[in-house]
Amino acid sequence: MKRICLLGATGSIGRSTLDLLARHPQRFCLETVAAGRDDAGLATICREFRPRHAVFADADAASRLRAQLAAEGIPTRVDAGAEALVAAAADPDSDTVVAAIVGAAGLAPTLAAARAGKRILLANKEALVCAGELLMTAVHAGGALLLPIDSEHNAIFQCLPGAPERPPRGVRQLWLTASGGPFRGWTRAQLRGVSVEQACAHPNWSMGPKISVDSATLMNKGLEVIEASYLFGLPRTRIRVVVHPQSTVHSLVEYQDGSFLAQLGSADMRIPIAHALAWPDRIESGAPVLDLCALARLDFSEPDLDAFPCLKLACEALDAGGSAPAILNAANEVAVAAFLNGRLGFLGIAAIVNETLNRVALSSAASLEAVLAADAQTRRVARALVEAGVG
Ligand SMILES: NC(=O)c1ccc[n+]([C@@H]2O[C@H](COP(=O)([O-])OP(=O)(O)OC[C@H]3O[C@@H](n4cnc5c(N)ncnc54)[C@H](OP(=O)(O)O)[C@@H]3O)[C@@H](O)[C@H]2O)c1
Repeated sequence: MKRICLLGATGSIGRSTLDLLARHPQRFCLETVAAGRDDAGLATICREFRPRHAVFADADAASRLRAQLAAEGIPTRVDAGAEALVAAAADPDSDTVVAAIVGAAGLAPTLAAARAGKRILLANKEALVCAGELLMTAVHAGGALLLPIDSEHNAIFQCLPGAPERPPRGVRQLWLTASGGPFRGWTRAQLRGVSVEQACAHPNWSMGPKISVDSATLMNKGLEVIEASYLFGLPRTRIRVVVHPQSTVHSLVEYQDGSFLAQLGSADMRIPIAHALAWPDRIESGAPVLDLCALARLDFSEPDLDAFPCLKLACEALDAGGSAPAILNAANEVAVAAFLNGRLGFLGIAAIVNETLNRVALSSAASLEAVLAADAQTRRVARALVEAGVG
């Protein structure tokens, strides 16, 4: 029986994970749940799964949940705050941590889980983007196991032989597939006036708002290039991005002998999550089965870096190293939040990220404190740029 700590339980990945836990009660037991502020969502989860412990970042949400659970006689202990999140991720009550908090807010708990030697199912790509070397070093030093559940990285993991190895043997390069998002084929001129609803309407995947916007700008693919580089120990020059609108091939590994191995499946996050939950076993995921005969075609093409400059900015940040990926990530989080709140246009996201990268000096990313300092400074600069109407 695996004992699960689910960080980001109320989100899209959290819900997919809960669906899998409910399908396999003999294999998994939900010990701990954590989220930001959605007390109604966490109350529903506590009612169904009766975890021992629930943690909120937000203290008011925790008070509301505590009162609600007490009124219903549900014995889940409720804590609040950043330190409680970190403690929950490292708590010996769980052996497996699903890291599905969105954004850099997930870094400290994910790092704590790594140091505590957990089996970590990583959805929170921003943690690896902000602090790739730090997190991978902690994984190795702590004896943790890092299993990617981002669909592309999970696909690559499935196409590699055996246990995780950095860099993987015999590999020429990795191919990350990108659906191209809702605006595939659009020009910059067409992108100028797009709405939040349009940006969040992903053609193939149902996801939280931040990653949906990242998919529309192709920043998501840029973050994934950085994630893949740290995860698999390969330089940016050996990680390629290819647009594949059907989202059927989830990614590919190209070997030195010319073999390409790909993982295919329906666009349902329960597949990679089920793979990592059960690894090295396999379990039913509940995802629709791919109908090979109904697949009319599989298309592949180059991404358009002029219309979608965020992908290029992310690759440059990876090349620059140090705090550059953390700066890129924090600037993007601020810009996406401003776009979602109607204070920034769609093209302004790349403009804010670019200008912030120009203004914030690079520093080290060798400690959590250094990364958090770069993150905080970047957010101040990026917010000021949004206020000043840049973009
Ligand atoms: N959705 C996908 O299909 C998908 C695919 C691949 C990778 N990912 C990655 O998985 C992560 C989660 O994505 P998502 O789509 O599930 O996002 P989402 O639906 O927006 O959910 C985000 C989760 O994070 C929690 N959260 C936000 N801020 C927090 C904080 N400061 N402290 C603790 N918890 C906090 C939210 O809690 P509240 O609801 O209480 O605010 C929620 O549970 C992201 O890193 C994303 O890039 C997602």
